[in-house]
Order: sequence, then structure tokens, then C-alpha cells
Amino acid sequence: MIPQSFIQDLLNRVDIVDVVGRYVQLKKGGANFMGLCPFHNEKSPSFTVSPTKQFYHCFGCGAHGTAIGFLIEFSGLGFVEAVKDLAQNVGMTVPEEDRLLPAQRAEVQAKSLALSDVMTRACDFYRQQLRGAPAAIAYLKGRGLTGEIAARFGLGFAPPGWDNLRTVFSDYDSPALVEAGLVIDREEDGGPRKRYDRFRERIMFPIRNTKGQVIAFGGRVLDGGEPKYLNSPETPLFQKGSELYGLFEARQAIRAAGYVLVTEGYMDVVALAQLGFPQAVATLGTACTPTHVQKLLRQTDQVVFSFDGDAAGRRAARRALEACLPHATDNRTLKFLFLPAEHDPDSYVREHGAAAFEQQVRDAMPLSQFLLNEALGDNDLDSSEGRARAQFDAKPLLQAMPPSALRLQLVRSLAQKTGTAPGEIEALFELAQPVAKARKVAPKTKRTPPMGLERQMMRLLVAQPLLSSELDEEAIGAVAQLAPDNAEMLRTLIGCCKALGERANFAALAEQLRQTHSEFDALVAEIAGETESDAAAARLELLGAVRQAKMQVMKAEMDSLAAQGLSGDEAKHRYRALMQQLEQLRREAAVENMPR
Ligand code: GTP
Ligand code: MN
Repeated sequence: MIPQSFIQDLLNRVDIVDVVGRYVQLKKGGANFMGLCPFHNEKSPSFTVSPTKQFYHCFGCGAHGTAIGFLIEFSGLGFVEAVKDLAQNVGMTVPEEDRLLPAQRAEVQAKSLALSDVMTRACDFYRQQLRGAPAAIAYLKGRGLTGEIAARFGLGFAPPGWDNLRTVFSDYDSPALVEAGLVIDREEDGGPRKRYDRFRERIMFPIRNTKGQVIAFGGRVLDGGEPKYLNSPETPLFQKGSELYGLFEARQAIRAAGYVLVTEGYMDVVALAQLGFPQAVATLGTACTPTHVQKLLRQTDQVVFSFDGDAAGRRAARRALEACLPHATDNRTLKFLFLPAEHDPDSYVREHGAAAFEQQVRDAMPLSQFLLNEALGDNDLDSSEGRARAQFDAKPLLQAMPPSALRLQLVRSLAQKTGTAPGEIEALFELAQPVAKARKVAPKTKRTPPMGLERQMMRLLVAQPLLSSELDEEAIGAVAQLAPDNAEMLRTLIGCCKALGERANFAALAEQLRQTHSEFDALVAEIAGETESDAAAARLELLGAVRQAKMQVMKAEMDSLAAQGLSGDEAKHRYRALMQQLEQLRREAAVENMPR
């Protein structure tokens, strides 16, 4: 692995105009350089290279990237080769793996080691507590689990009480405990800070990364209390959108079975492991992300997702389908299993037995069929409008797929069902190019569509990644509440920006995203095609967006309080407090919008 910090230094040192200029004749035109695009045939130049952004972008075919990306695409070099080639040109040496890492990296490592140590100690404590907790043991027995399976998953128990972790950590006030998400600090007005354990009186499911280190917990109540499951917050060790519960425990079984089964719940994983399906994992109360799919596909090329047969299950399945599409190549099998509405995998196996469940897995719906169902949906294929609508619905799905035999099959099926020729569908969907680049073509809309606050924020962050330092958890939380569907993506982006540190810029971020988060490709292309934004103006715009989000969240809460009639002092008090905060934010907005 070449350290990301080296990539950043390299991108700061090389000049993309020189690099591209070696292969493409460039002419200065305004702030940028222009030339004939080397990635598609054209007669008049639509290929631009920006020296300020250190990025190239073609308005004709959507190709874009950094100097590294250019070498990879143009000369067909691998990533490491491209980096070495560029480094050589500017007299830099690519660090070997075992060389000393820069101090910054070392610090990050030391920190995550400390957090990891804290998590391990907490996990040991919870496990030991389970042995002495008859009620918790009875609960697990009641759910049909054996001691053996509980031990395999390292299940534990957080006893009742506010600060049991004091007995584990002599330094209960250490900031590491907050950072690990094990305790919560409550600020008292004026008074001293109060700290208490996050997990109390819950069955504890340790979440491990693929190396087996405990990085988070899920805690389940024993009775009907709320919330049913409490999860660790996002920490430097733990991002929900990229972790899967049970993956570490299941790795061998996945290889043996030849597939992985993706469920929605902790209990499903543990119960299935006991009842003969140790190849099961679960998403952590979130929708399945492309990162999840990528992680799974590193273990096996066959994935079966299981969902409840109800509307919520359908929605979750649709999200999983979308997460799968970029990864749907011909050597992989991706399937969707819809259980009867009243069942999750745990309850299904217990009621109908392992053989019946096994059959369900075998009968799971292939991705192609699910995609067609989604596209054809309720559209009336007997009318022109219905057939057109089906094509419209299918378009983004097919566009998200890499060129493959499977995509061709789908094009054929869709053509047949909608009374069109396959070639017409390909032209209509702009699928014709049978090369990887087809995927990168940015949508050719003239103006960006109307956008939500979260999209506006993502655009600002991609253009000016340093702005991520302006966003605290409260700000992110407010936006997440307004746009839960995009919260994951926003958090991922903020994580990437922050990880780049103080020297973050557009090119470095784009390079990082290209390597690890292809879901940002369209957004990067969009920003690449725009003139450079002014950092100060972008900052104000971002703060404005955050304020808008906070205000909307507050208004929503006020509306709901009002709708409930503001009965009781507590509700009235809360309403007044919200009103004051809202007023404060309005005043801030007014000041900032004043001409200077
Ligand atoms: P059991 O009721 O114990 O069988 O759990 P389950 O795994 O079947 O849970 P359920 O189907 O209700 O929820 C699926 C997953 O969503 C859980 O495993 C959790 O990850 C998550 N989840 C469920 N309830 C909550 C909650 O109240 N808060 C949070 N944060 N996550 C939850
Ligand atoms: Mn369940």
C-alpha cells in the first residue's frame, strides 16, 4: 500500500499540464488548457486541463481525473506503476511499505490502537458479566441460543447501573472512552460534566472488523424497552456503512458454502449460525451500501440478500439492488430472497426448519429478474406510455451496470417487453460503448437539478474538502435527519475529507474517492466541469446550509409538539426553547447575509 499522504505530496508536486501535455497537444484558453480529447473522437476540443484544480475533464465524454488517473486511463498503467512513473519524473521516491511512516500517520495508528484496546477491554468485561447474569442467560436461552454459539460471537451483558465501566477503566474520565463511544458526556448548565455508560442492561453483540478486532457494539434490551437495539456511534474505528456484523466469524463458512447470506439483524446472524447457516452476516440497521457489497465480494462471488416480504423489505431490497449494480459482473451471482412478510430469517428457520430455508435460498431471485420487475413494475405494457415509462425506470439501473453479457441480456429482455430493438435501447440509454469508460460518462444535463441541502453540502465539500472541519456532529446529525437516504454518503465524504488532513484539496480528494468510493464519481465529474469556487464564499454557503438544516429540524419538532396540543409543562418548555434557538439562528443568518 502506498500511503495516502505520499499520493497527496505527489499530486502537489507534479503539474498535470506537463503530464497530459506529453500526450495531448494543449492550448491555453482562459484559466484552463484545452485540447482534443484522447478518450473519444472529436473534431473540436472539449477536453480541458485545469492547473488550479490539477484535474482534467472532458465536456464531451465526461472523462476526468488527476494526473495519476490520466496515466492509468491513457497508458493503461496500473495504479502503482502510474504513481512510480510520476514520482520518478519529479524526483520523488515511492516509500516502501516497511519504511517509517510520517508522524501524522503514526499518530493516527497510535490512536486507533488505543481505541481498539479500550474496546477489547470493554468486550471482555461484558462477556464476563454475562456469566453472572441469570436473567440475561435466560433471555438468550429463551431465544434458543446455546452457550457455545454465544461464546463464538463473544456475546456479553452490560449490567444495569450508570457507570459499571469504572471498574474496568481506572481512568473513567479519559477522552478515549467517549471517542470509543462507550460513555456519554452530558453537559449540565453551568454545573460539572456528567459522564455515564452508553450501554446499560443490554445483551451485548461485539462487532468485529475483518481482522477480528472489536470496533463497536450492538446492545439489545431484555424486555420491550426502547430502543430495542442501541448501536455504538460512528467512531474512528467504526463506520456503519462499511461494516457487516458477523463477517469475521463467517469468513470460513462463506468459503465452504460458496456464498454469503446477508440479513438485516444481529439475531438473524447468531441464530442462523446455530441452525446450520454460519455463512450469514448482517448490515447494521442501515441500508446496504456499495461499500458493503464490495466488501462481501472480496470474500465470495455469490451473495444472497434476504429481506422481509413487506414494503419495508422491498425498499431495503431496492437499495441493495442499487448498491449491487456497479459490481454486477458476469462472474458474480447476486440474488434476492424475499421471505413471507411476517418472518425474518431467524423466525423462518425456527418455524419451518433448515431444509425449507435452504430451499428459499436456492429459489432466491436473480438480480436480473429483480431489476426487470423493478423496471416493469406496475407499468402497463399494453400502452405506449407504459412501455416508455418502463424504459425510463430501467434506464438508471442499466446505466449503473458495467458493460457485461448480463447487461446485454437485460437490454434484450427489456427491448422485447417494451417493443423496441436492443440497439435502440442501448442508444437511448447511452450504453453503446462496450468499454469501462461508458460508466464514467456524466449525465449530460445542462444545469444541475434542484438539490437538497445534503447534496449542496456534498458539492461544496468535494470542491473545497477543507470545509469539512466546519462540520460538527450536530450539524451532520441535522442534515442526516432531513435526508436519511443520503446521510451515509455525506458521512463517508466527510470522513474522506477529514482523513486527508490540512492539505486536502480537490485533486487529492478526487483521487482518494476514485480509489475507494466510486459512488462519488458523478459528483466529482460535475465539480470538475465547473469553474473553481471561492473558498470564503463556499464556507458561507456551507454554514448557511447547515443552519437551514438545523432550522428545518427544529421547525419539524415544533410542528409535532404543536400537533400534539402542547399539553404539559415539558412540551411547552421545549417549544419555547426551540423557538428561541430558531430566532437565534435567524439572527445569525441575517448578520451573515449583510453586505460587507
Ligand atoms: P430481534 O427482535 O431480537 O429478533 O432482532 P432482529 O435482529 O430481528 O431486529 P429487527 O428486525 O427489529 O431489526 C433489524 C436490525 O435493525 C437490528 O438487528 C438492528 O441492527 C436494527 N435495529 C432494530 N431496532 C433498532 C433500534 O431501535 N435502534 C437501532 N439503532 N437499530 C435498530
Ligand atoms: Mn428477529
